[in-house]
Amino acid sequence: MLRVAVAKLAPKQKTVFACAECGHASPKWLGQCPACRKWNTLHEELPPPEERGAPRGFGGVARSARPIPLREVEASEEARLKTGIGELDRVLGGGVVPGSLVLLGGDPGIGKSTLLLAALERLAGAVEGRPILYVTGEESARQVKLRADRLGVGAENLHLFPETDAAKVLHAAQQLEPAALAIDSIQTQYLPELTSAPGTVTQIREVTARLMGYAKTTETPTFLVGHVTKDGAIAGPRVLEHMVDTVLYFEGGGAHPYRVLRAHKNRFGSASEIGVFEMKSRGLAEVQNPSALFLSERPEGAPGSAVAAALSGTRTLLVEVQALVSPTTFGTPRRTALGVDSNRVALLAAVLEKKVGIDILGCDLFVNVAGGLTLDDPAADLATVAALASSFRDRPLDGRTLVLGEVGLAGEVRAVAQSDARLAEAARLGFVRALVPAGNARHAEAPAGFSVEPVETVAEALDRLFP
Ligand code: TYD
Ligand code: MG
Repeated sequence: MLRVAVAKLAPKQKTVFACAECGHASPKWLGQCPACRKWNTLHEELPPPEERGAPRGFGGVARSARPIPLREVEASEEARLKTGIGELDRVLGGGVVPGSLVLLGGDPGIGKSTLLLAALERLAGAVEGRPILYVTGEESARQVKLRADRLGVGAENLHLFPETDAAKVLHAAQQLEPAALAIDSIQTQYLPELTSAPGTVTQIREVTARLMGYAKTTETPTFLVGHVTKDGAIAGPRVLEHMVDTVLYFEGGGAHPYRVLRAHKNRFGSASEIGVFEMKSRGLAEVQNPSALFLSERPEGAPGSAVAAALSGTRTLLVEVQALVSPTTFGTPRRTALGVDSNRVALLAAVLEKKVGIDILGCDLFVNVAGGLTLDDPAADLATVAALASSFRDRPLDGRTLVLGEVGLAGEVRAVAQSDARLAEAARLGFVRALVPAGNARHAEAPAGFSVEPVETVAEALDRLFP
């Protein structure tokens, strides 16, 4: 079906420029849409598939000629293909689903190609005999080979194709019939019948639509690498994120060797799952025990440090929340928060001031989550409060006490989800005591030798932490 599409499209096609707002079509590009008067909304498009005599690749979902009862649709629990990289498989929801399109986004140099190559090597081992196709539009075959040697990648059935013409890529895929396809990166691919440059909205949308058609009709799991722009979005259209089944972001970097792989969207699994890797000289290593890692450099006995247990998908992570409270030297007090929402910090500081009577609002406040992690679990509230109070009072917290709870505006400590899983993780890492919201403590099943102390208010929690 697709071969027909590619062949028919080979001669130069007439394209149209359609307005993204109102759909008005113009034969040439215009700065302003003549119909709705919006500026900069015209994008080049291929004419509708009926007009060009091709099946529409978009969506590529198999169709039936009539509506059918849902009960009659045949679907077994999709047999997933395990990449063999545990952290990646978990983020994918237990392996990659046949025919799914997975977008891997991240800053340049973060390690997307490295991760992909390692995953393809493992896949190549798993699908024995069947080829795997890795298309690279950014690096030469030699460059990829050098990296492969460094990573110790050398599966016989791993095929490399340095190409940026998407039509040729699809053609090669149809010939080779790979068990998995990877495109590095989607921004380098273009269709020659479109006049727009590679990486433009039009090109990315059309190329992705074709790849999606290919993936769905042939049941080939397809990985796309996508670059991230300065403001953190995948370069190119947002529509890319809508079209694919799974969006994974590779984050971290800077001075940290740690990389966090985060599911941003997943049609086949949880979207809050994370995987942790460490970049080493010979590729990415999986981090089996991220809690231990995130706590490894904790300054024991230093004020301003508290440990929270945050849920991340199906996993509990112990993280260190650090705070520094210092008198404002002049002007308005500063509020800086890294890894936690700064509004949340302002709110917690106000609770400390009003409900506990700690005179903190006139001070500069700095809050940081160690290890470059981002926390959005409200269960870390009480740990943030404890860290702030600890720094303000210049008194360290006990290093083996976990602080758990969401903080409300009345200064109350509210129950959190899955407190038992959090306590179990803390016990595993050598913690012996936890302050737990009273609402949780009633049903808590404390691990052996672990003391659980229920608290109802922030004031009560601080009394227990600083006797
Ligand atoms: P790469 O996978 O090329 O990043 P991306 O595809 O996201 O742009 O990774 C590039 C960085 O990773 C580069 O700065 C070097 C580093 N690196 C290592 O530290 N160890 C390795 O084994 C490899 C292959 C890369
Ligand atoms: Mg790369």
